[in-house]
Amino acid sequence: MKNTTVYDCTMIEMDKHHSDRKGNITVVENGKTIPFEVKRTYYLYDVPGGGSRGAHAHKELRQLIIAAGGSFDVTLDDGNVKRTVVLNRPYQGLLVVPGIWRDLNNFSAGAVCLVLASERYDENDYIRNYQEYLKYKQSEI
Ligand code: TYD
Repeated sequence: MKNTTVYDCTMIEMDKHHSDRKGNITVVENGKTIPFEVKRTYYLYDVPGGGSRGAHAHKELRQLIIAAGGSFDVTLDDGNVKRTVVLNRPYQGLLVVPGIWRDLNNFSAGAVCLVLASERYDENDYIRNYQEYLKYKQSEI
């Protein structure tokens, strides 16, 4: 998916259930909350405060990125426009479409980055070099 832009990436506000008990629950259900079926879930943690991750794009993978704890910034880049989103609420998810370069920065100490993904892990789906990424985007017809 080469011709996507940062404007195709949206924030999804999920339900926050609060009962008489203390605390909240947020639920993500296939076919209901997000526009893809979740095939894989992973989470990043123990990132040093102020640290960075990401710095790659995916050709086909769709993801919902959630700050399950703490906060971090996600900078989306389509080779043309950059957009930075602060994630700091466990009930908000950033939907990242394929073909977008992303940098995750400014992790707070103890932050947990939960990622719901549309495909199983495939290293061939990654573009890890920014110059290659720009070429990939420019090669669109
Ligand atoms: P990577 O996606 O580069 O992490 P980040 O975007 O946070 O910098 O993955 C880091 C390493 O973990 C990489 O060597 C491959 C491995 N990995 C898996 O084996 N399976 C997975 O589902 C993911 C996301 C990563």
